[in-house]
This record gives sequence, structure tokens and C-alpha cells, in this order.
Amino acid sequence: MPVIGKISLLMAPMVDLSHVAFRELIRCYGGCDLFYSEMLNSRIIPQESPLKSPYLKWAKTDDLVFQIVGSDPSRMADAARRLSLFRPKGIDINMGCWLKKITRHGWGVALMKDMRLARNVTEAVREAVDLPVSVKMRLGYSNDRKYLLDFAKMLESSGIDFIVLHPRTAEDGLRKSARWEYIAYLKDSLDIPVIGNGDVGDVQDALDMLAQTGCDGIMIGRQALREPWIFRDIRQMLNDGKIPPRPDIKKAILGLAKLLEKYFTEELALKRFRKAIPWLASSFKFDHFIVKELSRAKSIKELETRMDEIRVTP
Ligand SMILES: Cc1cc2nc3c(=O)[nH]c(=O)nc-3n(C[C@H](O)[C@H](O)[C@H](O)COP(=O)(O)O)c2cc1C
Repeated sequence: MPVIGKISLLMAPMVDLSHVAFRELIRCYGGCDLFYSEMLNSRIIPQESPLKSPYLKWAKTDDLVFQIVGSDPSRMADAARRLSLFRPKGIDINMGCWLKKITRHGWGVALMKDMRLARNVTEAVREAVDLPVSVKMRLGYSNDRKYLLDFAKMLESSGIDFIVLHPRTAEDGLRKSARWEYIAYLKDSLDIPVIGNGDVGDVQDALDMLAQTGCDGIMIGRQALREPWIFRDIRQMLNDGKIPPRPDIKKAILGLAKLLEKYFTEELALKRFRKAIPWLASSFKFDHFIVKELSRAKSIKELETRMDEIRVTP
């Protein structure tokens, strides 16, 4: 039951950044095909209330995939079952996070070390829900092509609907360049769709990734934080070869502040604003100054005033 048919454009899961307000901001600029939530802890999800939890706030779920993280098959199945009640577009299993705080529990990319456990997790989630299930993975712990393919084939045979490949090793973190040739390799070797992820920094990169890998879709993380309209630009380029005019970045920054205020308490809104602003302001010449100025704001109102006073342009 793949959700991927045409060239799909996906917003990546990013902790503290892939939240309801940022999704709404991206929708203001035309949206994308699928949004991934930030990773949700499978130990906590079954007890969380969507009315209270800042992680389970959403405006809509019909373009949203919930990403879960964990390594206990029955806990992962419970979390997936619980989230499926909100009728998202799918459930994703995190097999890519490389951070110590995740891998020390055997979660994230650590699952790629243990093919049997990874299969048990995948099958448990697959059985638990009647929704598309994806796995977002890395290359694993080395550049071993055979292991990567065996692992991906295992996922395919356990009923996964599609794979998102971020072609870096666990050790790479976000360093070195993403090795797109591995996306092409999985695409050539699997029957299920393969989504490419990593280092798409503009429309041309997206076209290059498509041409070089033949992937079924592109997932974008950091560049969508800098330019929430990147999906619109790629879609338009694919449709008619033109890129629309660049929107006003100041408006985008204020727009995000207003959306954060709408969905979160002021304290949390400000916290999340401070996480997002280094990305959104990165096209300004004096971005450090802007980030510092805006991060000092003690309320959303003050933040709007400070924004009004900033005279530099991108
Ligand atoms: C701040 C931040 C938080 C992230 N959080 C997650 C996460 O929760 N789950 C996940 O699978 N990947 C996470 N990632 C990885 C991204 O989803 C993506 O794979 C990576 O940034 C490469 O794509 P990009 O070059 O388009 O940014 C995170 C990345 C960043 C920069």
C-alpha cells in the first residue's frame, strides 16, 4: 500500500523543528507531499495525550507520517497502534539516528547492527497497523554494500512499504557528503520505492538527485528550515521549468512566530522559535546579529517588535 506514486517531496523528521507550526508555515508556501514528525519515543507515546503533549499537536494528519524510535518490538507495535488511531498517512521506524543518547539504548541506527531484532521490530509494527510503514535508515556502520542490500531486502520482505535512505554512516553524523550513489544502488535493487535524503540544498540539487539516483522521492530537512518554500520551487520546476520569485524571509520569520504562538504556550513557542531562527535567518548577511537580537525576546510580542526594527535585508 505505498503512498509514493509520483516523485514525492517529503519534509524530514527533525527534533524540536518538525512540529505543527513549521508544517503550517510550509503549507503557507504550497506544502509538500508528506511531512514526517520528529522522532517520538515509543516508551512514552502510549501514555501521551494529544491534548497535552507538545509532541502530539497537529493541525491535520492526512499528510503526516509519525516517526517512532525504540527497539522493543511490542513497545514499538503499541506506539504505532496508538498513533494509528489518529489516522496519519503512515508510521516510520527510525533506523537512522546516530546520536549517542539514542543509540546507547539500541535505538535508531543501532538497530542496523542487529538484523534479527530489526526484522522483529519491523514485523511487529507492520502487523500492528493497517497504514503504510516506512523505515528511515542510514548506510549503517560501514560502507558495506552487501550488508546494506541484505538489510534493505530484509525490510522489503518484512512488508515495509518504502525506504528513506540517508546515505551516511553512523560515524559520519552529518559530516562528509551524503553518498547518493547508494540511493541509486538501493533503487536499482529493490521493488519498493526508495526516497533519497541528504544534502539537497537547492532546486538544482533536487534535480541532480533525481537524475543521478532515479529515486521515487526526495526528503529534505535543513534546507526546508532555511527556505520553507523549497518544495514549491522544486514542484514548479518539475512542472514547468520555472522557479517562482523568492518570498520575503522577514514575513516567513514573523509567520512562524505567530504560528508558534497559536499552537504552544509562550514559553515553548519562544524555545522553539530560538531553535528555528538560526536556520530561517541564515540567508541574511548579518544572520548572527539577527539571531542574537531575536533570541533575546521575552515574549512573542517583543519578538515582533524586534523583527520590525531590523533593517538588514537578505
Ligand atoms: C536538528 C536535526 C534534528 C533531526 N532529527 C531527526 C529525527 O528526529 N529523526 C530522524 O530520522 N532524523 C533526524 N534528523 C536527520 C534529518 O531527518 C535528515 O536525515 C538529515 O538532516 C539529512 O537531510 P538534509 O541534508 O536534507 O538536512 C535530524 C537532523 C537535524 C539537523
